[in-house]
Amino acid sequence: ADGTLELPVHVNVIYSNAAENISDAQIQSQIDVLNQDFGATNSDYNNASPYQSVRSGDIKVRFLWTPSNTTRKSSTTTSWGTNDAMKRSSAGGIDPTGLGTTLNIWVCNLSNSILGYAQFPGGSSATDGVVIDNNAFGKGSFPLYANFNLGRTATHEVGHWFNLRHIWGDRRCGDDFVGDTPAHDGANYGCPASGHTSKCSGRPLEMTMNYMDYTDDRCMYMFSSGQASRMKATYAPGGPRAGLIP
Ligand code: ARG
Ligand code: ZN
Repeated sequence: ADGTLELPVHVNVIYSNAAENISDAQIQSQIDVLNQDFGATNSDYNNASPYQSVRSGDIKVRFLWTPSNTTRKSSTTTSWGTNDAMKRSSAGGIDPTGLGTTLNIWVCNLSNSILGYAQFPGGSSATDGVVIDNNAFGKGSFPLYANFNLGRTATHEVGHWFNLRHIWGDRRCGDDFVGDTPAHDGANYGCPASGHTSKCSGRPLEMTMNYMDYTDDRCMYMFSSGQASRMKATYAPGGPRAGLIP
């Protein structure tokens, strides 16, 4: 009634060793991060930024998960690519649960240091969802990559799942179809110093603290208000994810 999207989450864990069979506690830590980041209750939400006035505020998406919303499968495949094999039982993966009403997350060992990838709205329901490497999933005292240990990979990928583009528009000074984000020369990495400007028209200050950049987890802490509107449009009546609203 207050416009909150209550979003059921199903987690699919595919593992070739015990470490990849992540615990329910690790999954819970990631669900908590998603609820904080989309609810603007993340502890770094008020970090200094030139872009405080366009922060999203509470996006009103609640991620609902309990340990029973998990499927686990042992596999002889030791690393996975981006061809969606982990989403098909016929390829040794796990088929999605709750087509059209549920966010499916697959957690497995992705090859070549890939942190995660997502499917945009409008694709096949059989492959819909996000995929996250087991070493970039969750937050806390788990075996996580040093700079990707705060659960922001899933925040970024769920942003894509709700139709957000990279903030640099995937090309120099490209368009992300959001009005309140500045143009960027390209992806930023690491933890850029404040005041970093692009060479795009007007030399705007880059929004390096946005979840849709490529900065380290501790240096990204906001969606913009325009990004929140773009995400909400996907589950508004007529939107490609309208089926998420009962
Ligand atoms: N490279 C991935 C993608 O394009 C994810 C990047 C996530 N970044 C992070 N700081 N966790 O979807
Ligand atoms: Zn991305």
